[in-house]
Amino acid sequence: MSTESASASVFNINALFDNPLFAGGIGLASLGAVAAFARKGAIATLGAARRRLLVNVEISKQDPAYPWVLAWLSQPRENLGFITSRLTRIHNLSVITTTASRTGANGPAHAHFFLQPGYGRHIVKFGSTYIAVNREKHNTANMNTGEPHEIVQLTTLWAHRHVFEDVFSEAHRLAAKANEGKTVVYSARGMDWVPLGDPRKKRPLASVILDEGVKEAVVDDVKDFMERQQWYVDRGIPYRRGYLLFGPPGSGKTSFIQALAGELDFSVAMINLSEMGMTDDKLAYLLTKLPKRSLLLLEDADAAFINRRQRESDGYNGAMVTFSGLLNALDGVAAGEERIAFLTTNHIDRLDPALIRPGRVDLMLRIGEATRFQAARMWDRFYGDVDEDHSGRERFLARLDKLGLFGEGPDGKPSHRYTSTAAIQGLFLFNKNEMSGAIDMAEGLIPKKFEAGEAVPEGAIKTPA
Ligand SMILES: Nc1ncnc2c1ncn2[C@@H]1O[C@H](COP(=O)(O)OP(=O)(O)OP(=O)(O)O)[C@@H](O)[C@H]1O
Ligand SMILES: [Mg+2]
Repeated sequence: MSTESASASVFNINALFDNPLFAGGIGLASLGAVAAFARKGAIATLGAARRRLLVNVEISKQDPAYPWVLAWLSQPRENLGFITSRLTRIHNLSVITTTASRTGANGPAHAHFFLQPGYGRHIVKFGSTYIAVNREKHNTANMNTGEPHEIVQLTTLWAHRHVFEDVFSEAHRLAAKANEGKTVVYSARGMDWVPLGDPRKKRPLASVILDEGVKEAVVDDVKDFMERQQWYVDRGIPYRRGYLLFGPPGSGKTSFIQALAGELDFSVAMINLSEMGMTDDKLAYLLTKLPKRSLLLLEDADAAFINRRQRESDGYNGAMVTFSGLLNALDGVAAGEERIAFLTTNHIDRLDPALIRPGRVDLMLRIGEATRFQAARMWDRFYGDVDEDHSGRERFLARLDKLGLFGEGPDGKPSHRYTSTAAIQGLFLFNKNEMSGAIDMAEGLIPKKFEAGEAVPEGAIKTPA
């Protein structure tokens, strides 16, 4: 009997519902389910509404506009009013520090801290429009640099979507203003061009002293080329021009290209061909995506040629650019359409004639040892204000003549001895305040290799057999 009643009570559902505890539980659970449903529905409706009512713009860290937008976000905003100023307070900040040596003081370096909105959500007001900002770091990374991917997302009302145009042009204007009077130098990092350090102050073209007429010839050629884009397009010729500057170290090749970039308001995109890890593929790829308005600078062009010889002898190419790799990058099918390239080398004899062909190199120039003309101009730049009657300059030039530093001895015979403009600059820098010091120490301009072999008595000229 007792077993029967037990089984009956187990299967009797009604009895369960009669239990106030159980019925209450069910009631609560169904209420919960309804609430969860409603919540889901609300989220979906809200999501749909969001999608319809709002616009997002996503800017990834790879995009050039990324730093511009961050800088724009960091701009102080004025006259915001009580509520807006509280609403748009940025609570998460990140810092970018740049150091610079203080001008005129030899104390510790001067540090400049630049605060930017950090990761997370912020609200900014632009004109009369509120924009929600979300800066996020992703947990994926750039395969080349190992840097995590980052985005900034700007959100505003659909009705205000046109504000983004203004935001971007304002951000770009700010960035352009910050770089005004500066030259940005890009170098290759992995497969990307990244600015190498902070933008440098433009180097005035007048500060680079080349032999008579050389500078003007190149500048005119480049300017002429820049005005002729349509001419090239009309004739179906790729709009490219290449220059090769060759000559001994310290003659001002790199400085000239940097100054030229400043003059044209271009940036410099620099690749050192002798750099480890620079391969043909990488070079070709980088040349297809040069930063806009930049001069391509390929330093040490001879490296690619040495490499070819190595490959012939041992078949191994130490992960460097090869000769054919360089030629292809310069004018192969994949070569970029618009480009001004400068190649430099200290060893013209190592180059191959195949390089010097229109389309690859259109103009070749030797930037050589210091000439009389250059020495005189450099003197004027350094001591022009104190040497008003030019007597110091004449003494200096006479001394260099006596030392045979312009390739000719006082007796008119070739001296085979030259100095570099870099050495002259060094001498002047050493004697900043005292021009007579520069004259006295002019002997230091004699290239070291002459001193090492045989002791050259002062004033004596070495005439090879
Ligand atoms: N013609 C020049 N006019 C003004 N400054 C010069 C000149 N030549 C060299 N200098 C100075 O000498 C230094 C070295 O010059 P730069 O790096 O331009 O030489 P380079 O020709 O590129 O040498 P390398 O072949 O070794 O790369 C710079 O500080 C530069 O200011
Ligand atoms: Mg150089």
